[in-house]
Formats: sequence, structure tokens, C-alpha cells
Amino acid sequence: MKSTLAALAAAFAFLLLAQPAAAADAAAGEQVFRRLCTACHIATAEGRRGVGPTLFGVVGRKSGSVDGFRYSTANQNANLVWTPEVLDKYLTNPREVVPGTTMAFAGIRNDADRANVIAYLQTLK
Ligand code: HEC
Repeated sequence: MKSTLAALAAAFAFLLLAQPAAAADAAAGEQVFRRLCTACHIATAEGRRGVGPTLFGVVGRKSGSVDGFRYSTANQNANLVWTPEVLDKYLTNPREVVPGTTMAFAGIRNDADRANVIAYLQTLK
């Protein structure tokens, strides 16, 4: 009996550890991307360009560095590296991080949606 309880407790602890509540989910992030970003951005290196630069390889990339894309002066001079942390701030409120950007997007309020879309962006490489 005692050992059954111990086994149950261990299994329960394992379940808790195996599914951290706050883990970002790239698959869910792809849905967020489709809903909020694909109107303007593509996710592939090649392809018909959108209103915005491709987001293929964006994580770790220097801001304003997609060849041939005509950025605003604001984005061109932002001098950022798109790390997950910077993207988190940017996608909360783009105009606060890059004042004067021509990205007509208000931002993502929902913390989980933002974390998930950033997890998805990290898969684009
Ligand atoms: C209405 C169109 C539009 C939507 C929607 C949009 N973007 Fe953008 N995005 C742009 C434009 C245009 C730029 C270039 C801005 C500039 O030059 O000031 C841009 C720039 C960016 C950049 C900077 C890229 C670089 O190379 O410096 C990132 C990152 C980005 N967008 C991510 C996103 C994500 C993620 C979403 C969805 C959550 C999104 N955008 C939704 C139009 C959009």
C-alpha cells in the first residue's frame, strides 16, 4: 500500500514536471503568427514578399537587415538585435521600442500568445 502511494506520488510529480505550465508552445505560436502576422510577413527565405520583411531567421538577426527591403528610417536606425527578450518587448508595443516604425501593428497583449509566437519565430531557420 505504502509503495503504491509512493509510486502514485512519483507519477504525479513526473506529470507536473513534464508539463511546465508556462512553457512556450511553437505550434500554438504558429497559429498566432497566421492570425496576426501573415497579412504582412512571410516565414520563408524565398517567396512573394509581404508588406513587411520576411521573418525567416529573424531571431538573432540585426534589425533592419533584410536585403532589398525598404525599411523606415526608424527601423533602419533602431540598432537592435532581435533576441527573444527584445522581441517580447517589441511585440508588446512595437511603437514604444521602435518609435516611428511603419509596422502598423498595435502589439500582442496576451503574454502566452507572445511567448508562443516567439517560440515559433525561433523555429524559422
Ligand atoms: C500591417 C502589417 C504588419 C503586421 C500585421 C505585422 N507586421 Fe511586422 N512589420 C511590418 C512592417 C511594414 C515592418 C517594417 C517596419 C519599418 O521599416 O519601420 C515590420 C517589421 C517587423 C520586425 C522587424 C524586422 C527587421 O528586420 O528589423 C519584426 C520582428 C516584426 N515586424 C514582427 C512581426 C510579428 C511577429 C508580427 C505578428 C505578431 C507582425 N510583425 C505583424 C508590418 C507588419
